[in-house]
Amino acid sequence: MLFRLEHPSDYWENENLTREAFWDVYKPGCNEHLVLHNLRNSQAFLPQLSYVAVEKGSLVGNIVYAKLFRDGIICEDIIGFGPISVHPEWQGQGIGSKLITKTLEKAKELGYKAVLITGNPDYYSRFGFDSASKFGVHLKGIPLEDEAAFFMAIELEKGFLSAHPGVYEFDAAYESTDAELEAFDRQFPAKEKRKPLPSDL
Ligand SMILES: CC(C)(COP(=O)(O)OP(=O)(O)OC[C@H]1O[C@@H](n2cnc3c(N)ncnc32)[C@H](O)[C@@H]1OP(=O)(O)O)[C@@H](O)C(=O)NCCC(=O)NCCS
Repeated sequence: MLFRLEHPSDYWENENLTREAFWDVYKPGCNEHLVLHNLRNSQAFLPQLSYVAVEKGSLVGNIVYAKLFRDGIICEDIIGFGPISVHPEWQGQGIGSKLITKTLEKAKELGYKAVLITGNPDYYSRFGFDSASKFGVHLKGIPLEDEAAFFMAIELEKGFLSAHPGVYEFDAAYESTDAELEAFDRQFPAKEKRKPLPSDL
């Protein structure tokens, strides 16, 4: 398996891979392929940390990073990743773990100080992520007293995050409207959506 930086010529294939990975997982259909697309036009996007896993010339996994914001100001030291995707046929074989560990090492090498993410604590705790609130770091829109265990952090430089507590937010590219998604989705192969479930995000 080859791990390399994403090239602009990978963009559509990567978006399609993200769509395959997230489709019907957290809700009927998904919007993560649009997030990936919009992130690349954002000032927060970090192409130097946008990695793909390649098997026999096809993309089977990807991860993308962007800078966080604090009080509306872009952070130069604090970044986040997501979406991270592994094609359903390749899940559970360590590809997601490799993408995370390799890019965390690379982020540290590049001088970034901390990484903030949202996701399942059961998965991300194995890479050293802990609840962001333990560092005094909170997500915009979530009450401060709420632990919000899905908002997690890892320090790449020990003590950095604890020295920079506050309320952080992700780039606007993570939000999209249904109309935008519907139009964007037409560029991809037709797919049936499942019915909504009470457990949907
Ligand atoms: C999440 C994802 C990137 C992990 O990649 P992967 O290559 O399948 O993961 P790995 O093989 O490195 O690790 C597999 C382990 O992670 C666990 N795992 C995978 N996804 C998980 C999730 N969303 N929540 C909790 N645990 C998860 C598996 O149960 C497995 O556990 P085990 O090692 O105890 O058997 C991949 O499954 C995926 O693309 N999922 C759909 C999209 C998604 O949910 N992205 C992440 C959003 S936060």
